[in-house]
Amino acid sequence: MGTMGKMAALVAEPREDAFRKLFRFYRQSRLGTADLGEVIDFAQASPARDSGHKVFRSPLSVSSVSEQDACRAGLQPVHKWKAYGLEGYPGYQRHWVKQCLKLYSRKPNVCNLDKHMVSEETQDLWGQSQELLRNKDLNKKRPRSLLEKLRWVTLGYHYNWDNKTYSADRYTPFPPDLAYLSKQVAAACGFQDFQAEAGILNYYRLDSTLGIHVDRSELDHTKPLLSFSFGQSAIFLLGGLKRDEVPTAMFMHSGDIMVMSGFSRLLNHAVPRVLPNFDGTSLPRCLEVPLADALPADSIAEPCSVEDWQVCANYLQTARVNMTVRQVLATGQDWEDKETETTSESSYHLDDENNEAKRPRLNPSS
Ligand code: OGA
Ligand code: MN
Repeated sequence: MGTMGKMAALVAEPREDAFRKLFRFYRQSRLGTADLGEVIDFAQASPARDSGHKVFRSPLSVSSVSEQDACRAGLQPVHKWKAYGLEGYPGYQRHWVKQCLKLYSRKPNVCNLDKHMVSEETQDLWGQSQELLRNKDLNKKRPRSLLEKLRWVTLGYHYNWDNKTYSADRYTPFPPDLAYLSKQVAAACGFQDFQAEAGILNYYRLDSTLGIHVDRSELDHTKPLLSFSFGQSAIFLLGGLKRDEVPTAMFMHSGDIMVMSGFSRLLNHAVPRVLPNFDGTSLPRCLEVPLADALPADSIAEPCSVEDWQVCANYLQTARVNMTVRQVLATGQDWEDKETETTSESSYHLDDENNEAKRPRLNPSS
């Protein structure tokens, strides 16, 4: 007997939602083997079986955990692990891409273009760029839109690139949706009281790089640094405390979240290369699912309209967007308490000759 038959046999309750209906179905005491056909079994050779879901194998980084380390944790070597993804659960990356391009790029946030342009011109980068970006493929030799000249935006305590500090008097409210996202990610990593206080958003073109650096300007290094990546993939190099240690290269794909905490909080790192997707499609698959219907009623991510996504998608064909979120002050710390620490901090920077080249390089023309 097919599953549907049994399902129908359950007396439908008025105004019952789909979730509750299936909940009751699996809860019933006379559940038989035949009713389990649509339950995904990851332990099976082909886990999808009769279910309508698309299960795909998700690659693991076999080389990043040695057999010895896995064994010490009571685990099999990583090459024996099986990781799966479920199609249709990509998370809602579109919201964050749109925020980076349309909202966070606005005043009072600070961006690289402020130096060369008056505030009326940098007021609404999205508004000035959307026409050009919508018709991107039509005229290949068109002028670069302002969004394509955008390289960085700072949020919250605005980072001062010249003296490499944050300060109390350069602060504007941190975007609440990004603060909320960050809080959840930090908490899942064991940092219950993380406060998003500063953000640096990086807008990479295909030829952009991010120089070798350590993020040490924050006053409390016991708090993690969160990094969210969208759009085209990149090679991320994670080195040691000193520049002479050979770094580990890893891909950073769209939707990846990197948490630098504990020992890794002060490690050297860099992005030497942005690499468009290998599969030839211009956007990673996880961005192709709109999923707006699946957002819960109290979601902090808003559905991205078709018109807005058109602009974002065209932009991302040749771009990578990375949001880094930092807690600057220790929990309960005040800027008044900061004096002594600033002095010791700045002495750190003296031998860091590469910090100038830290940001994604600007095009020579801009
Ligand atoms: C940074 C940073 C890494 C990335 O902004 O400090 O290291 O993946 N970004 O873009
Ligand atoms: Mn960094």
